[in-house]
Amino acid sequence: MMKNSNMEKIIIAIDGHSSCGKSTMAKDLAKALGYKYIDSGAMYRAVTLYCLENGIFIDDEPDLDKLRNAIDDIRIDFIFNPASGISETYLNGRNVEKEIRSMSVADKVSPVAVIGFVRRAMVQLQQAFGKDKGIVMDGRDIGTVVFPDAELKIFVTASPEVRAQRRILELKARGDKGVSFEEVLANLKKRDFIDSTRSESPLRQAEDAMVLDNSDLTIEEQNRLLMDWVDQTLQKNNA
Ligand code: DC
Repeated sequence: MMKNSNMEKIIIAIDGHSSCGKSTMAKDLAKALGYKYIDSGAMYRAVTLYCLENGIFIDDEPDLDKLRNAIDDIRIDFIFNPASGISETYLNGRNVEKEIRSMSVADKVSPVAVIGFVRRAMVQLQQAFGKDKGIVMDGRDIGTVVFPDAELKIFVTASPEVRAQRRILELKARGDKGVSFEEVLANLKKRDFIDSTRSESPLRQAEDAMVLDNSDLTIEEQNRLLMDWVDQTLQKNNA
């Protein structure tokens, strides 16, 4: 991998379905390049956690008026934790990295992520994070809405079954052992459907995105492919 501090920094936008390994990929890329990493899904999850903790949900739907009134009071930051080596998510000054990955948040995040005023607030913040470039951001609309001029766009996908299996392992590693494969698969499919059919910034591949289907790729194979794309982009950008 080429890494030269004199090189012009780029923006790398990574979009795709949930549990495709986008975050790990984005984190590793950011580390290799010495770039910032922002997990945009964590921001929608943090807003969802706020709604759950502040009585904004009525059954499965957030109360729009209450959320509109609260949106300016929701502060989201990412703070690098040298011990874990990752940027952790903070909601109004509190570290919520663990809470936002729970099933209760995963179950409720899609209806929050479809709300126009929530998306506008998050996109504004995301663009501010990327104003000096040198950033890897992953999500659903990064290459299409947040950074339409990103130098490198990657669209990641994998079969729902492969993704559910990966999510189960992730949940188990976090100590969440009571969740079944079927439950996770159903949750993934439901979120895929909502994410790609919503009217606000639906998940779709940018025309100029590189497609990465990693259902049958090893991490090494995937990394090699990614490094090639990054090298080519950096060379083009610095030519
Ligand atoms: O990537 P994730 O599973 O942490 O994302 C959580 C939810 O947030 C998911 O339902 C899609 C939504 N999301 C979004 O709408 N736009 C983004 N840029 C990132 C995530």
